[in-house]
Amino acid sequence: MDRRKFLTYVGGVGALAAMNANQKADALEQAMNDELEKRITKPAICTTYGRESGPRVPLKPGQVYHMGHDPRLPRMSDKPTLLEFFEKRFGPSSHLLQSARLAKINGLPEKTILACLLHDISVGSYIKTDHGYYGAQLVEPYVDEEVSWAIRYHQSLRFIPDEAVGYPYPEAYIRYFGEDYKPEPYIFKDAEYARNHKWYMTSRQICINDVYSFDPNVVVSLDDFKDIIARNWRDPEQGLGYDNSPCAHMWRTMIFPNNFL
Ligand SMILES: [Fe+2]
Ligand SMILES: [Fe+2]
Repeated sequence: MDRRKFLTYVGGVGALAAMNANQKADALEQAMNDELEKRITKPAICTTYGRESGPRVPLKPGQVYHMGHDPRLPRMSDKPTLLEFFEKRFGPSSHLLQSARLAKINGLPEKTILACLLHDISVGSYIKTDHGYYGAQLVEPYVDEEVSWAIRYHQSLRFIPDEAVGYPYPEAYIRYFGEDYKPEPYIFKDAEYARNHKWYMTSRQICINDVYSFDPNVVVSLDDFKDIIARNWRDPEQGLGYDNSPCAHMWRTMIFPNNFL
């Protein structure tokens, strides 16, 4: 850890000077631990959508573990829809909305625009690790197979450049993961499979339209995509989480992220 960061952490030169050697060693260890924490991401579901440092879930008298709706979160209805998840669990969704907007501007088919709109839903609401695979599972029963397929494989294709279609290796990944980072073998294997598949370009378009440099002057509303969602997404009659689909439990986990069991 560099000296400037450490000084800021302890509250300045004066505060550091007032510490004895033991206190300084403890403060340094704590500062390094905190810095490490910042770089190890936790699943969104483990941080209760950013409220990890907020008050604990209020318990009723006689109750030891929390069960049911978390009063700190917007309450979900009995029959949640995709739009309700966007409003109460996925937000902020600028990355998804701006990516979908770009796909729309680029004149891509509705299925591809929907894939762009949903491609990272797992990152903000469920889990970042293998987010393409989790994201695909979450949407699979409710979209055309091509949409979930594209979401699954965008994860591996993200790491593999294809200059012929205008997709270089992301410069941001060099900054995030280091120059010498090499993805795990399964990423290469899945990207190779995807590259030879008939839906390759649908998945590749997710990578091409993946917007990381947000334009603060562009405000994109979910309303702009409600018609595309209506035509290309099938909300289950019982509500997401309650339809007995293979991924119903994943939606329920987002509804009740703090249930003890
Ligand atoms: Fe992604
Ligand atoms: Fe993305």
